Amino acid sequence: MREVYADHAATTRVVPEALAAMVPLLGAAFGNASSAHRRGEAAREVVEQARASVAALLGALPEEIVFTATGSEANNLALKGVLAGLDHGRAHGRRRLVVSAIEHPSVLETARHLESRGFPLTVLPVGTDGVVDLECVGRALGDDVALVSVMWVNNEVGTIQPVREIAALAHAAGALFHCDAVQAAGRVPISVGELGADLLSLAGHKLGGPPGAAALYVRRRLRLVPLVHGGHQERSRRAGTEDLAALAGLGVAAGRAQRRLAADEAARLGALGERLRAGLLAACPRACLNGDAVRRVPVIVNLCFRGVDGEALLHELDREGISVSTGSACSAASPGPSHVLTAMGLPPADAHASVRFSLGEGNDEADIDWILEATPAAVMRLRAMNDPGVRRSA
Ligand SMILES: Cc1ncc(COP(=O)(O)O)c(C=O)c1O
Repeated sequence: MREVYADHAATTRVVPEALAAMVPLLGAAFGNASSAHRRGEAAREVVEQARASVAALLGALPEEIVFTATGSEANNLALKGVLAGLDHGRAHGRRRLVVSAIEHPSVLETARHLESRGFPLTVLPVGTDGVVDLECVGRALGDDVALVSVMWVNNEVGTIQPVREIAALAHAAGALFHCDAVQAAGRVPISVGELGADLLSLAGHKLGGPPGAAALYVRRRLRLVPLVHGGHQERSRRAGTEDLAALAGLGVAAGRAQRRLAADEAARLGALGERLRAGLLAACPRACLNGDAVRRVPVIVNLCFRGVDGEALLHELDREGISVSTGSACSAASPGPSHVLTAMGLPPADAHASVRFSLGEGNDEADIDWILEATPAAVMRLRAMNDPGVRRSA
């Protein structure tokens, strides 16, 4: 059976170059980057090379990169680390956190947790297009706001948020700006300087690196209280012996992602995504795109197939060898409708009828051919099961 992996927003395959860099580090080339001997020095070199590579992908300085294990940890460190820093000592009346309603749970739930600990929270709405409205941002920004956190690319619908404008508004109001760029890194060129980010998160496993290695960019001289106290790794911003192999894999994947962005890989994948979107909309009556048609990364295609249960469609496609998801991978276990689609105003029935296709490096035209053949047929079958009248009119 042909296998088509169309769930790259959940995770990606470790690219061969990254794997090749990792394997020796799990064997003969092991080491602790804090050790004083030559093996330790070699390990330190691995960590610093990875740091330089991630910094280059973001247009940052190596010392501005803090390694974490996951994108979720990077987001937690950004929000909790900044607010704890403000709370200690010289802080002023700025304690409010502003986040959008379509953030990943690692931002939203962290923000709600901080709210329960006494940090006021404002959740910005989004329009039916899945984009944060700048006027709402402006209205939310008072002199009590400490930090604004808005993602670059939404993981469920792929919409691109006006992050540069939001960063500028946050700074004009005296607040810091954090950007969750987990779905943007490797897909769009990133320059933390041009963006105006004070903090920015990415995760290796979304860009061809392994799970277990992620990073938080922290602008120089910004005060951040660690989540994990202990040794002085990561300039005392995250204690613990480094996962050498995972970091090496992240470094190689970041370098490769940067070269592929320059080599127009994004354009090749974007064209595949556009073909997928247009083909499915044409072949599936009553299907519609979730999220803005233009302000989005074309590789994430989230469609509502009215009259179909998204879960049932996912399993039907799985039987055809096509891997997709409903909502995001981390909400797969939650029975409620997607918080992103709900925030965009979709009624629960439409949210439950939605499926996300997300393309990545391994996909080619033949994959799109197969999705375009199998999906309309699966939608038709499911609609016919739900409503036998459909079979007669098909
Ligand atoms: C936008 C976004 N932020 C954060 C995360 C969390 O990353 P991780 O799974 O590495 O914790 C994800 C993962 O899906 C994501 O899509």
